[in-house]
Amino acid sequence: MENSTRKILVTSALPYANGSIHIGHLVEYIQTDIWVRFQKLRGHECYYVCADDAHGTPIMLRAQKEGIEPEQLVAKFNVEHQADFADFAIEFDNYYSTHSDENKYFSQLIYQRLTEGGHIERRTISQFYDPVEKMFLPDRFIRGECPKCSAKDQYGDSCEVCGKTYNPTELKNPTSAISGAKPIEKESEHLFINLSNFESMLKDWINSGTVQNSIKHKLNEWFEAGLQSWDISRDAPYFGFEIPGEKDKYFYVWLDAPIGYIASFKNLCERKNLNFDEFWQANSKTELYHFIGKDIVYFHSLFWPAMLTGSGFRKPTSVFVHGFLTVDGKKMSKSRGTFINARTYLNHLNPEYLRYYFAAKLNQGVEDVDLNLEDFCQRVNSDLVGKVVNIASRCAGFISKRFNGKLADNLPNQELYQQFINAGVTIATMYEQREYNKTVREIMSLADQANQYIDEHKPWVIAKQDGQEQELQAVCTQGLNLFQILMAYLSPILPVMTKQVEKFLQTTLIWQPKPLLNHTIQQFKPLMKRVEAKQVAAMIADSTESLTANTPSKSADSIKEIISYDDFAKVDLRIARIIKAEYVEGAQKLLCLTLDIGEEKPRNVFAGIKDAYEPEQLVNRLTVMVANLAPRKMRFGLSEGMVLAAGPGKKDLFILSPDTGAQPGMRVK
Ligand code: MSP
Ligand code: ZN
Repeated sequence: MENSTRKILVTSALPYANGSIHIGHLVEYIQTDIWVRFQKLRGHECYYVCADDAHGTPIMLRAQKEGIEPEQLVAKFNVEHQADFADFAIEFDNYYSTHSDENKYFSQLIYQRLTEGGHIERRTISQFYDPVEKMFLPDRFIRGECPKCSAKDQYGDSCEVCGKTYNPTELKNPTSAISGAKPIEKESEHLFINLSNFESMLKDWINSGTVQNSIKHKLNEWFEAGLQSWDISRDAPYFGFEIPGEKDKYFYVWLDAPIGYIASFKNLCERKNLNFDEFWQANSKTELYHFIGKDIVYFHSLFWPAMLTGSGFRKPTSVFVHGFLTVDGKKMSKSRGTFINARTYLNHLNPEYLRYYFAAKLNQGVEDVDLNLEDFCQRVNSDLVGKVVNIASRCAGFISKRFNGKLADNLPNQELYQQFINAGVTIATMYEQREYNKTVREIMSLADQANQYIDEHKPWVIAKQDGQEQELQAVCTQGLNLFQILMAYLSPILPVMTKQVEKFLQTTLIWQPKPLLNHTIQQFKPLMKRVEAKQVAAMIADSTESLTANTPSKSADSIKEIISYDDFAKVDLRIARIIKAEYVEGAQKLLCLTLDIGEEKPRNVFAGIKDAYEPEQLVNRLTVMVANLAPRKMRFGLSEGMVLAAGPGKKDLFILSPDTGAQPGMRVK
């Protein structure tokens, strides 16, 4: 390794604990995960920590609405977020929550040190207050008419029509978005961090290469406008940490959120016995990087370094800012079906398609990243399936069939192998600089060369000639060894496929691998399927919020006649797994489902759901079936039960799904 081991701590922004992870978020977590995997692959000591951002008014209100405690809401999303990340192969060394003991400790410590350092000031301010809910209203919870253009129903901080920013008290006819009441103005004392105490430190820090140039310019503009003190307290009721020594005052969520980075790492240190101070003390020699989106630069490049400096901790080495995700050139939208949740994506597509596509688009800039759905299919199919996997599939069969899985004992073209190894220097630099689009381009041009080698040597032709056994084995050995290097370079982007390849090649992929010679490999299994346009279409359909979806139809079915409990108990409802779903020839509305309900023989059921589902959307899903319905002979065959679905019919029909944990065969009661 050319440089000695570095010690690196990396974070992604902490997602809010009141919503699901969507593909916009994934730009960031995939970008970070690739970088971390790359650092680890190169032998550096690198830790990746994250957490849920658990505090604040929206989370408190959402929990209230659901009739649960905020702690329960936060716990629920923590489980969901971790599952989503894991399924996208985003591998944190620690995933925590800001609602933790460690975070409370560090928030209070940092506040106490800021107070002792004379950085906290008090001021009484006047704010809108909801007299019904008895709470102060954050800007986002006040609606009214824009003071400039009079557009109706605008937020308390800015107008979406004319773009003006203002104070909520300037709105015309303001109302509380929570109770609908007319807010009153009320005074209360707030605590502020005096940012101007840190002005020269911040200027130096920002201008010393810690942020990208365009961000630096933006921050310098803010300096010129003058640094305002930052309001860090909120009055009860609030979900957060109480401020020591104050009555009914809480830390504003954005105070304890970045401290969550420290707290999550502290928690990791306790578990793994790492040296916490080495990473966080003021004169730390380790590296600290925050990956964030462009919307939260202010918090990470002004408030955060000020808080850290004022409390004796180290500052970040760099803050890496990325742009926002657009889909087909437009902002993600629920009505267009492009606001795609991580889980919805996973229900339809391989996560590594998206990891690859984002890598192919990402660079170190802050411009928005576009997911063009057509380009997505095309790139995945032509690059990953058509180029990379193709190399292995063209060589592996001969090695298995003709040489019992054994590779030759030398490479016919050493030079080409060495050239691939040498390319690693440039590729590493590109990864390090987060120029993943260039990394991908470089790797694909190597893949082209490998394919060209195979095209020139035509193993499929040699295979038919007598006495060419050795040549055949040599050519395929060369091809598979080039494939090995390509996969090593791609492994930070495609960790799941990497695992499969390791199994296939019977090796552990390291950054610059030695050639596999005289070595036995396993039979080749297809590593990645082509993406089909109709899978993408089904995902979009699944994400499309129809305007009527949530409004119950006016002609709601009336309740049927009352039945006794005994009548109900006669119906044997079972959890079923749909193991097969097929069109039925000649049937207008039916799909034929094969259901596993834990019996020896699966059941066949004809269901009238053809307009609502593509068969492939259903495969592997759990649903509920009536298992003791008398079998019915239909024109197309015997139907052995019924599956449960709701809705008026045609496209608007929804198969019922059990909660996670349910198993085929379980009785529904
Ligand atoms: N909770 C704060 C961060 C606190 S960090 C101490 C927050 N949460 S968030 O859930 O809204 O966003 C988490 C990260 O995802 C942010 O860096 C944000 O910029 C990023 N993204 C959220 N939506 C995004 C897109 N549509 N596109 C790209 N990144 C996006 O902010
Ligand atoms: Zn306006």
